[in-house]
Amino acid sequence: MTTHTATAQSSPNIAFIKYWGNRDNALRLPVNGSISMNLEGLYTRTTVSFQPSLGMDELIINGHEVTGKSLERVSALLDVVRQGAGLGLRAEVVSDNNFPTGAGIASSAAAFAALALAATKAAGLDWPESAISRLARLGSGSASRSIPSGFVEWQMGSGDEDSFAVSIAPPEHWALADCVAIVSAGHKTTGSTEGHALAPTSPLQAARVADAPRRLEICRQAILTRDFEAFANIIEHDSDMMHAVMMTSQPALFYWQPATLAVMQAVREWRKSGRQVAYTIDAGPNVHVLCPQAAREAVAALLGQIPGVGQVLTATAGGPARIL
Ligand code: DP6
Repeated sequence: MTTHTATAQSSPNIAFIKYWGNRDNALRLPVNGSISMNLEGLYTRTTVSFQPSLGMDELIINGHEVTGKSLERVSALLDVVRQGAGLGLRAEVVSDNNFPTGAGIASSAAAFAALALAATKAAGLDWPESAISRLARLGSGSASRSIPSGFVEWQMGSGDEDSFAVSIAPPEHWALADCVAIVSAGHKTTGSTEGHALAPTSPLQAARVADAPRRLEICRQAILTRDFEAFANIIEHDSDMMHAVMMTSQPALFYWQPATLAVMQAVREWRKSGRQVAYTIDAGPNVHVLCPQAAREAVAALLGQIPGVGQVLTATAGGPARIL
């Protein structure tokens, strides 16, 4: 008898052109394409085992059993796999992160990418990368981008079939580092899923979406030609545009803390004085500061001196989700 067990590992990713808003919330079909880089060294490892003895799916994250909404989201993805494989068995899902969950590094991208890959493998399905990226997308949009390698573009597509992510360059193409300045937030922020649903309530979202093809093109070219200046300008512009939408949603979403702005200002000043640095911020107060890999330690040290910045995590460009 086949064992119906598999383990996969995948990394979180940092978006340079952001995903914010869906045209179909259930299928997570985005209103614009997005571009990201996988983060080497940070990972989620997930084992899926389909077992005849289980009456329902079970989820264990970092040693703790998880139920409720998170389990439902996992079960919904497993249902797609069960349907594809003609499999009726429930599964045990055991997942561990090597990065702090409370530190504000989005864990859903790595989590759903590893889940999608492990679940298809455990069910005996040998799906192409594009199909696994689509499956991961159903769990969390940004997870679609953690399936391919290195620098990745998630194409918005015309529907479910062609909305998946592809690699635009391997990790070794460009020696960039992401220094994540962790800013301690005093309150729990609104999650991405609720945030995407609010995006259309901002009158700025339509302009942001209409202009997305231009930003995608500039960012893609900046990556392909390793043009740091063009890259810095477009990723900051894109992040600022997304936060402008967030701040003008109804209700408004303000993710920044005072230290968030302090880091943004420092990064802009450092760049003016000739240092290659650029910021981007997701749905939280932490600031991702991109720089050449050789400058990684110097930049991390500088960031650590800014009041309000706690830990600084660093990562380089990472490979694809893979079976262990
Ligand atoms: C701000 O992929 O976390 O990080 O699909 O609801 O899980 P769900 O949303 P998620 O959204 C990511 C939002 C972002 C920008 C990005 O990563 O592109």
